[in-house]
Amino acid sequence: MSLEPRQFLTKMEQRMLLTDEDKAILQSNADWGKEKASHMTDHFYAYLERDEEMANILHAGQGRMDRLRSTFIEWFHEMFTGMDNWGDEYAQRRWRIGLVHVKLGIGPQHVVPAMATVIHESEKIVKEEGKDVSVINPLSKICMIDLAFIEQAYVEVSSQAVQRETGWTESLFRRLIATGAGSMQ
Ligand code: HEM
Repeated sequence: MSLEPRQFLTKMEQRMLLTDEDKAILQSNADWGKEKASHMTDHFYAYLERDEEMANILHAGQGRMDRLRSTFIEWFHEMFTGMDNWGDEYAQRRWRIGLVHVKLGIGPQHVVPAMATVIHESEKIVKEEGKDVSVINPLSKICMIDLAFIEQAYVEVSSQAVQRETGWTESLFRRLIATGAGSMQ
């Protein structure tokens, strides 16, 4: 595994401009996040169910929906607590979530709109409740960081798998991708 989750988290925090103040705002809203997690989960899975391909994935494994409900509730709450204040534990957990989705063949085309749904619904609830809107921006940022973990897991797993199978070096692999992308234009 070439990606080191904690380093990746730090890099993403810098790129997303997630500040200590953002983290403090999220943590001060952790109880609210916990309270809304069940609603968010219902909304999220109702959204996934409307898409035939995603609904099939959801119902493919036994007990999958029950597991998903509880893990998604935890996930949403963790967005506010940062688990260990966005440390090693948080980074490892996000990396694992990425790997789980890669294994299931759930790709960018599925997760990007799904994450947008989480952000959109959060914003909607905040406004409906007349709650302080300052939580929206930090929550959007951390959602984008989590999304980056899932997306990056794809790239890492795919490139590692090809390199392992073929014995190609990373630079050869990158060159072949660049050539392939060039020929697709
Ligand atoms: C916003 C994007 C998403 C988030 C935050 C998210 C969150 C999670 C979490 C926290 C887990 C548990 C991982 C573990 O077991 O360690 C999980 C698993 C899973 N997710 Fe997602 N997910 C997202 C998008 C999707 C999409 C688009 C699908 C498409 C159907 C999906 C289907 C699944 C499935 C099937 C599992 C495995 C359930 C099992 O058998 O245990 N997820 N997801």
